Amino acid sequence: MLDAYLWEWGSLLLRWLHVITAIAWIGSSFFFIHLDASLRPADDIPPGTGGRAWQVHGGGFYEMRKYMVAPARMPEELTWHKWQSYWTWISGFFLLVWVYYAQSELYLIDPAVMQLSPFAAGAIGIAALVVGWLFYDFMCRSPLGKNDVLLGLLGFGYVVAASWAFSQVFSGRGALIHTGALMATIMTANVFFNIMPGQRKVIAALTAGEKPDPKYGKQAKQRSTHNNYITLPVLFLMLSNHYPVTYANSAVIPALVALIIIAGALIRHFYNVRHADHAKSPWWTWAVAILALWLAFWVAMASSPGGRERLGLSPREPGRPVLLAGMSLPPVEVSNIVTGRCAMCHAPEPSWPGLQIAPKGVWLHEPERIAAEARAIRTQAVMTHAMPPNNLTGMTEAERHVLAAWLAQAR
Ligand code: HEC
Repeated sequence: MLDAYLWEWGSLLLRWLHVITAIAWIGSSFFFIHLDASLRPADDIPPGTGGRAWQVHGGGFYEMRKYMVAPARMPEELTWHKWQSYWTWISGFFLLVWVYYAQSELYLIDPAVMQLSPFAAGAIGIAALVVGWLFYDFMCRSPLGKNDVLLGLLGFGYVVAASWAFSQVFSGRGALIHTGALMATIMTANVFFNIMPGQRKVIAALTAGEKPDPKYGKQAKQRSTHNNYITLPVLFLMLSNHYPVTYANSAVIPALVALIIIAGALIRHFYNVRHADHAKSPWWTWAVAILALWLAFWVAMASSPGGRERLGLSPREPGRPVLLAGMSLPPVEVSNIVTGRCAMCHAPEPSWPGLQIAPKGVWLHEPERIAAEARAIRTQAVMTHAMPPNNLTGMTEAERHVLAAWLAQAR
């Protein structure tokens, strides 16, 4: 029981850290992109080599200057922006390990997709992140890297293909989180293996009084442009695994990923252009982004089991009962309590007024489902009284004790 509390708190604290570091990283990167776009020529900075921008914030005025490639003399103090990115990745990786690898039977392994051992599932996940980055890096360094548009299109196809591959081995939510994690790994690895080393070489050359090689600047620009355009899609993927409506049908995950990348990248493009020149704001990007999101909604809805039935695309099915290895069915007394207090909301067709689909995709209407949700039931109805919400269905203390006794034996 104690460890169940620890699992929940560990997940909460890691997620807290991850969100904080991600805000710091994405906040500063959006800030610099905006700043870059708003730079204007200044008298004392040679044209074409940088610019100046004025900003007001928190009661003060800021005058900012950009020196292309670098100032004539190195300043004594220089602030680097890298730890936000590194910590976002580190906290995200530990969160992935905590939730998806350490509790892989709940979140990552879907026996109907592939019967994996927890070790194999974790190993595949981590290997995919490493190999996925190496392949992307290889594409950028190859001759393809000379053509930004072609590289961008291939990168897009690559991520969509990766999401398909993940959906062939992992649960739906596992596939979505790994697609997001691969993109996020590419982002941080770009900072760590490419942008930062390049910057250090430029500084070393300047300190030695030499002219820095402009190739480092070019590479860094290409990698940060990739990071910029994939930021919004990555955030969507990080949140999507909390919404069963996005992963109800693994077969459409590649299509969803493609549509979300299109929508997110176009919205980012709108701001990239607008911040440089309001008059040029490409409003069409919003139209296409909204269309892509609308399509994503329809693809997900019309392919999910409940949606298909609603649209008359497939007959009502009794549902595939699942019983995970090592789990036994709950005793009748437990089943009766759960179906009596929970299944009016948590069933394929909830009878609770106003509810059309089971919240969070949790079904508790049959013994197999109850067994499969044992740990979630413990968190929601024994460790806490979060469920039923506000005890709407009047679950008694005695009934919670029956659940607790069963859960103490169940794994
Ligand atoms: C009146 C309807 C209703 C009843 C009855 C109900 N639930 Fe829920 N349940 C919800 C709603 C709504 C949510 C979504 C809560 C949220 O979004 O945070 C939910 C979410 C959940 C979740 C998923 C939590 C998560 O964040 O992933 C579990 C597990 C769950 N309920 C278990 C139960 C159990 C066990 C019972 C019976 C003891 C029960 N519920 C009874 C409405 C209900």
